[in-house]
Parts: sequence; structure tokens; C-alpha cells
Amino acid sequence: MASHPAKSTAPLEYAPYDDATQSLRQIPRYPRSFTRNPSQPLIRRPLTLSERTGPADLARRLPVDRMDLSRPDAGTARVAGQLIHVAGRVLDEDGAPLAGAMIELWQANASGKYIHEMDRHEAPVDPNFTGWGRLVTGAEGEYEFITIKPGAYPVGESDWWWRPPHIHFSIFGVSWMQRYVTQMFFPGEALNETDLLYNGVPDPEARQRITFQLQPTKVGIPNLLRYRQDFVMRGKRATPAVD
Ligand SMILES: [Fe+2]
Repeated sequence: MASHPAKSTAPLEYAPYDDATQSLRQIPRYPRSFTRNPSQPLIRRPLTLSERTGPADLARRLPVDRMDLSRPDAGTARVAGQLIHVAGRVLDEDGAPLAGAMIELWQANASGKYIHEMDRHEAPVDPNFTGWGRLVTGAEGEYEFITIKPGAYPVGESDWWWRPPHIHFSIFGVSWMQRYVTQMFFPGEALNETDLLYNGVPDPEARQRITFQLQPTKVGIPNLLRYRQDFVMRGKRATPAVD
């Protein structure tokens, strides 16, 4: 009997992306590169039912669409730093919105300091700023939050590397196994030019997908700079994952 090529057992086929539009597996000069990125090609493995289900009803327990990291409690003063508004949508490869996706974000304060025991940078802690938030996308996949622009910070195990201002994001789909992690950068930052992670995405157009877009400025209350960026989870236009 003639043999036939095995048919793919994948439930869906996604438009493949060009490797240059994603992070390099090994980033030259990045000391922790091998702990962050797989050095071997990924293999597909079947998911169990418990991996495919849950978390459920997140939108009942978490803020939906919008949250404010710049004001720890209603009625208190805002934390120190340049106030910014960040908004966008979470989309699939066809541009369809992903409603109910859980977004977590974490960032340094305006001085480039995280509240974390591993952060040895001698910049001041802002006691009112936790630097993290969690929300769920709305019906159109939209999210928005108010925060402060994070500061740049030096990388401890390097003698030259400063990270440019950036915000870390983790996005969960319908199950815990669908986790996506990246960082978003700010346009026009000189330190973007030398950042190993930003430039670990070789394709310049793909780097724009991990760069906030400054929106037209407005003066009013509240005074804040507005940025936008969408997250595309798959396909040729996929937002590069940066860990
Ligand atoms: Fe960071």
C-alpha cells in the first residue's frame, strides 16, 4: 500500500510568522538569554482538559477594561511621575477581538525602581506605587489603564546596559496554558537603540508592534499623555513576545 504524507493533526493552522519578527532564541551579550528563551524548536503536545478549562468568570472578580495604577486608593494623591494613559485591544490573527483575556502588567516606578527583593538599584522606592495591575479585556477586546511612565534602570549583572522605559505584560486566553508575555517600549527613547531585548527582535517593523504609539496631545483634566498599542496574539502580524 502506498504511503501518504501524514496529515497534520493540528486543530487549526495559523498563518506562520517570519522568525525575524519575533525575539531571537539566543540574544548575544544577554547573560540570561538561555534561561528566558527556548534554544530548541518548539514541539506541540496535547493539552489535558484541566489545562484547556479555566479560569472562569474572571470578569466578575477583576476590573474590566480600565484600571488606575497611579492612584492606590480613591481619594489619595497620585503617585510621582509623568501620568500616562495606555489603551488598545487584544486581537487574534484576523483582527477579531479577544474578549475576556486577562492582562497583567508590571513596571518600575518613575525612578526606575521595582518593589522587588532582587532590585538592588539604589533609586528611590515610591511607597504608594506597587507597579502592577490586572484587568480583563472588554467585549471588543479593549483595555485601558492609567499609570506613570516608568524610569530607565541599570541591569545589575552588566557594566553598561540600561533598560529603557518599558512596561511588562502577560496575557492569558481562555485557559492558563495560553499565556503570552511581552514588554512594551516608548517611542523616541535613546536607550531603545542599545537595549538588547528591544533589538533582540530583528525586524524593525515588528519592533514597532512592541512600541507604544503616542496619540495627539490634549491639555485638560486630567493632564496625561496618551499611548495606544494593540496586542495581536498570532499570525504574521503577531506582537513579538519579549521575556
Ligand atoms: Fe523590566
